[in-house]
Amino acid sequence: MTTPADAPRNDGRAADALRPVAVDWDPMGFALSSVLFAAGRTRVLCSVCLDPEVPRWRKGSGSGWLSAEYRLLPASTPSRQGRELMKLSGRTQEIQRLIGRSLRAALDLEALGERTLLVDCDVLQADAGTRTASITGAWIALAAALERLQHQGVLAASPLRQQVSAVSVGLVDGVALLDLDYSEDSRAEVDLNVVMDEQGRLLEIQGTAEGAPFSRSRLDALLDLAEPGLRDLQEAQRQALAVAPGTTTG
Ligand code: CDP
Repeated sequence: MTTPADAPRNDGRAADALRPVAVDWDPMGFALSSVLFAAGRTRVLCSVCLDPEVPRWRKGSGSGWLSAEYRLLPASTPSRQGRELMKLSGRTQEIQRLIGRSLRAALDLEALGERTLLVDCDVLQADAGTRTASITGAWIALAAALERLQHQGVLAASPLRQQVSAVSVGLVDGVALLDLDYSEDSRAEVDLNVVMDEQGRLLEIQGTAEGAPFSRSRLDALLDLAEPGLRDLQEAQRQALAVAPGTTTG
């Protein structure tokens, strides 16, 4: 496998370069917190709301919960997502479970108490990497939401235990690339979504080999490519939080 740092890509990026990240705060004023997170042309609206109760199956446990929803908005893809596609497809269920598990890994649910955090990730524009952008962006909104709940006196201490970011890596024409856009994702031989915490521990790996089984050493090389990207995304998350309105995190 070749991993030339300067492999030509459609947008001129090096093989190990992330797409430009942008974070806009609080586009949804009624949410506890919200961010519009962009990774290149992929743009996801991530919001966090509080339900003061837990689902029935968790009542009396003393612990809270976080659930996530994800969807591709109608005009987010070249061919409009019609009603049929917006139904809870297998893909949508898989993605929202991934987002929920990744964000719950960031939390001490006992410290949250019997409350539920509701995270919504609505994709405004999909150019691949929408599930990883959802996780990275929603973590930012989640951290701000928890800080606001502390400021409001709802929570005595923050239940946030970990920073979590996510990115895709893949093999395209035998070359390992970080943070695939759709032109790359749609022809990738191997496509991996990697979720990592701030200690470099892996929380989730989702991988697909499109008819091209890959070796353990290729997996290791792809994870080696993902890790610095995930660390850079965590730095971008911290920078976004440092300028979050109404919080002091920095
Ligand atoms: O977005 P992500 O890479 O997490 O998920 P995917 O299922 O691998 O989809 C890759 C890309 O395919 C999406 O980001 C969209 O650009 C496109 N796509 C689409 O146009 N319509 C769909 N129903 C699903 C995906």
